[in-house]
Amino acid sequence: MSDKQYVKNILCIGAGYVGGPTMTVIANFCPDYKVTVVDISRERIDRWNSDDLPIYEPGLKERVLKARGQNLFFSTDIDRGIDEADIIFVSVNTPTKTFGEGAGRAVDLQYIEKTARRIKASSKSDKIIVEKSTVPVRAAETLSKILHSGNNSVHFEILSNPEFMAEGTGIHDMENPDRVLIGSMDTPSGRAARDELIKIYERWVPREKMVTSDLWSSELSKLVSNAFLAQRISSINSISALCEVTGADVDEVARAVGKDSRIGPKFLRAGLGFGGSCFRKDILNLIYLCEHYGLQPAADFWQQVIAINDFQMQRFVHRMVAAMFNTVADKKITLFGFAFKPDTGDTRDSPAIHISKMLLKERARLWVTDPHALNNARQDLEDVEGEIVYEPDPYKAAEGAHAIALMTEWDQYRSLDYRRIFDRMEKPAFLFDGRNHLDHQALFDLGFNVYAVGKPDRTRFNNDSQ
Ligand code: UDX
Ligand code: ADP
Repeated sequence: MSDKQYVKNILCIGAGYVGGPTMTVIANFCPDYKVTVVDISRERIDRWNSDDLPIYEPGLKERVLKARGQNLFFSTDIDRGIDEADIIFVSVNTPTKTFGEGAGRAVDLQYIEKTARRIKASSKSDKIIVEKSTVPVRAAETLSKILHSGNNSVHFEILSNPEFMAEGTGIHDMENPDRVLIGSMDTPSGRAARDELIKIYERWVPREKMVTSDLWSSELSKLVSNAFLAQRISSINSISALCEVTGADVDEVARAVGKDSRIGPKFLRAGLGFGGSCFRKDILNLIYLCEHYGLQPAADFWQQVIAINDFQMQRFVHRMVAAMFNTVADKKITLFGFAFKPDTGDTRDSPAIHISKMLLKERARLWVTDPHALNNARQDLEDVEGEIVYEPDPYKAAEGAHAIALMTEWDQYRSLDYRRIFDRMEKPAFLFDGRNHLDHQALFDLGFNVYAVGKPDRTRFNNDSQ
């Protein structure tokens, strides 16, 4: 198709975990729209144009191959992309600030601001700008101020359209969303821009799932959705600590509690705590907002969600060390999984990073295995002192180990031959299941000492048969 035959030109700035999959789905459902994804990283763009995509997400590759070169393009020519675009999605990274005021809490907006300046510099016609990255409340206002500063006659209409997809199920979530949220200004041009975006989504999303609101409420809703989800995880994890000391089983408690239709069963899986690029960052951002507006008790409330998450990881390591006769120094410990959740290679803020660091401080020798995250794991731990070996084969990784600690609930870890693994481990053999993923009774019957989150220990030390 020549450019003239496309209904509209869509540009996405930022070819990461959000931008790449989102645009792929749009391109698949809207073959008459030209969708271009740009990034400052040439390496990323080269990989999007190759068979070795920069991110692993089930179902992504076949959808990229279907549209790439037809109506989906990946490029580093950002200025040309901006010039040609009618609608620009902004999905650059918005990490937590590591310096200056608000360090450790506020969002670092430098990437968003640089993007806004570049859009302004390269635009010769009116455009719709869609915030896709998670941004602090009222970021649209900042964007608008930068875009409309100086004597530029071009008009930019800002929309907020937060992404709710979860990694590992990103394509499914995008294709079957619970809702599509669009925030806009309540002006004729704001409503017209919103309708342009609805036109795209209605190709595959039923109208009743489109939620429209004002810009600020839309921005805040994204933070609050993630904060509520994380809060549920911390709630059940706090109970898991109580279960371990009182002999209750946290999965039984979650099952009973989740049957209450007002509570519901989802996001009540106790484990090592939440990881990923969003939860911690968004809660910190919410805390920063509360503090900024002088709402300290509200800030303290959300701070506790993070405190419990940290406590959960510390407790896990503490339990490991205590079980292994109060020392793991020089012992080989094998981590099964490193990704922050299964079906992704993403390790951002993965509990496995924090747990590895704590175990290395205790001078354990770490062997890490994961089907998709070993390259990221290597980068995450490159500056950390201690012995770390990365081994894709779980059997080799566990050979001669004193303990296995399961970090990520990859499906394949359920169907391993644990008899074979047990036979080649040091004895007594320990298994710490950080995601309550394995068959604990079967493992215990094989001879393992099994420790699961929020469950009584299954050890062989009283009636020892080792
Ligand atoms: C999350 C939100 O779900 C998504 O809507 C938003 O767009 C981005 O942030 P994501 O971080 O990709 O998605 O994954 P999610 O499935 O939410 O899991 C986050 C973390 O919570 C993982 O580390 C997971 O292991 C943990 N988790 C999740 C639990 O520990 N227990 C649960 O019951 C659910
Ligand atoms: P997310 O999970 O929010 O998608 P990622 O870090 O995966 O975050 O992706 C963000 C992408 O945005 C990165 O590939 C980064 O190179 C890109 N990026 C950051 N700043 C700019 C910019 N000014 N112009 C274009 N791309 C940018």
